[in-house]
Amino acid sequence: MTSVRVFANDLEAFVIEAMKRYGIREEDAQLSAQILVTTDTWGVHTHGTRQLRPLLKNFPIGRLDAEANPEVVREGAAWALIDGHHGVPFVTAHRAMQIAIQKAKACGIGYTGVIHTSHFGAAGYYATMAANEGMVGIASCNADPQMTVPGGKGKVLGTNPIAYAIPAGNNKPVFLDIATSAAAANKIIRAKLLGQSIPEGWLVNADGEPTTDPSGFPETGALMPMAAHKGYGFALLVEVLAGVMTGAAMTKEQPSWVTGVVGNPPGPANQGQMFIAIDTGAMLSAELFGERMDWLVDYVHGSPKAKGTERIYLPGEIEWGKREQALAHGMVLPPDVVESLQGLAQDVGIETLPFEIIADI
Ligand SMILES: NC(=O)c1ccc[n+]([C@@H]2O[C@H](COP(=O)([O-])OP(=O)(O)OC[C@H]3O[C@@H](n4cnc5c(N)ncnc54)[C@H](O)[C@@H]3O)[C@@H](O)[C@H]2O)c1
Repeated sequence: MTSVRVFANDLEAFVIEAMKRYGIREEDAQLSAQILVTTDTWGVHTHGTRQLRPLLKNFPIGRLDAEANPEVVREGAAWALIDGHHGVPFVTAHRAMQIAIQKAKACGIGYTGVIHTSHFGAAGYYATMAANEGMVGIASCNADPQMTVPGGKGKVLGTNPIAYAIPAGNNKPVFLDIATSAAAANKIIRAKLLGQSIPEGWLVNADGEPTTDPSGFPETGALMPMAAHKGYGFALLVEVLAGVMTGAAMTKEQPSWVTGVVGNPPGPANQGQMFIAIDTGAMLSAELFGERMDWLVDYVHGSPKAKGTERIYLPGEIEWGKREQALAHGMVLPPDVVESLQGLAQDVGIETLPFEIIADI
């Protein structure tokens, strides 16, 4: 197993070249690279460049179309429905949040839904686009079922992630980006490959009983929702705002975005995605909103700490810190990301990887 150190610019250049070799336009490859590599700089390696190789496999078999462009098919003053036409999903999601931001500038709030699209990576990237424009951003998507529901035993809902980003005065945006399952499926599969057990509360077995043994997943068993009925409730809200509301495929009708999954419904992924932007100057002035956020951040930071705790973090602070370090000194990619990128390089015939190997176990 290999760990490597890589600089963001070098990794972006590699991603752009690999995407172009799948026929993807230069500008679309650049934007996708920026989204995936930013995710890696946050330390969210489960949903950064690791996802590129399986996603690109959809293009040659017609489940994604490198030529397609997202199109607004219906809209009102504060909302729009976008057909992704199975184009590059990062580009479609980016466009959808741009439109939500434009609508929010005009109306105070903007909500876009997307259909006929696929895996967009980390929901958080799109939420931070709104925060960079002085707005609250929310981004979310439905996905094929991996997660059970309280009292259930099979896979019922997707891990339906939800992210928000909030401009916070003199502080970096407050930024939460989570799956609504207790743990990402990738974390369980990684433990399975390493022969490790997993914490309680992550997985149920084929009978719906909680288990710490990941060996049967994903063939049998299902992820557990985060915080039991609470995560379940939020996953359902996402399914409604991204799936029911837009007309996208829902739950068991949702084909996996990964190619070749046994038992997959036919056809390409038809995920529902949703993007909301809220103007922070709509009710108060944006300046006053920023001052109040500064107060809130200071208040939370200064709240009493548990024994042994040195620092209380706001959501996103850990990721902003990792990004600063990654941009200054490069970042360490874990072995599963390296393996995925090495496989991608082989698929497209790129001989030189942009890595410095720091551990080969
Ligand atoms: N596209 C998809 O289909 C899909 C599906 C599932 C998950 N995802 C992505 O997977 C990624 C990881 O999700 P996850 O559920 O494993 O996330 P996670 O459980 O690692 O939680 C990360 C979030 O929690 C915050 N956080 C962590 N520790 C904190 C602390 N001590 N104090 C304050 N905040 C803290 C972080 O700032 C971050 O916002 C996300 O980017 C999500 O969008 C995508």
